[in-house]
Amino acid sequence: MQASPVLLALALALVTPSLSAERKCVLTGSWMNDLGSNMTISTVNSRGEFSGSYLTAVTATNNKIKISPLQGSQQYRNQLNHPTFGFTVNWSFSDSITVFTGQCFVDKDGKEILKTMWLLRGTVDELDDDWKATRVGVNTFIRLPLRRE
Ligand SMILES: *[C@@H]1O[C@H](CO)[C@@H](O)[C@H](O)[C@H]1NC(C)=O
Ligand SMILES: *[C@@H]1O[C@H](CO)[C@@H](O)[C@H](O)[C@H]1NC(C)=O
Repeated sequence: MQASPVLLALALALVTPSLSAERKCVLTGSWMNDLGSNMTISTVNSRGEFSGSYLTAVTATNNKIKISPLQGSQQYRNQLNHPTFGFTVNWSFSDSITVFTGQCFVDKDGKEILKTMWLLRGTVDELDDDWKATRVGVNTFIRLPLRRE
């Protein structure tokens, strides 16, 4: 069969680009967003649960920023390459809570990117102030290079 090496090469040429486009986005690791805030996400367990830490670059309070814990879930249905996820940041230096939702993508250059939206709930002193207690925003995260220690 003289034709088979040619067919194989053709098949590889056809298959390779779609394989790189199908690269899986993995949440585990360290990320930085467009504001310079950083987070580290643990290994995602078999139930899709993860924990981590968040170091914000910005705050709506006058308190000194401290590293804060986060807990979340990623969607495992259909073994998605670009999974959706959500997590809560329990701010350790204020009374606020932030929830993020997002999706983990791989861009055209093969770089992982997290597109997220968040709601930040602050405390207000009375029910009448409830209307102004929630902020909303968007953040894009890129993977931080591994640090050598
Ligand atoms: C996030 O990490 C980058 C790169 O290591 C660093 O330059 C930046 O200061 C960090 N941001 C905060 C809020 O610590
Ligand atoms: C939430 O933050 C508080 C205050 O820093 C801390 O005591 C508590 O353990 C945190 N809870 C979780 C689930 O991380």
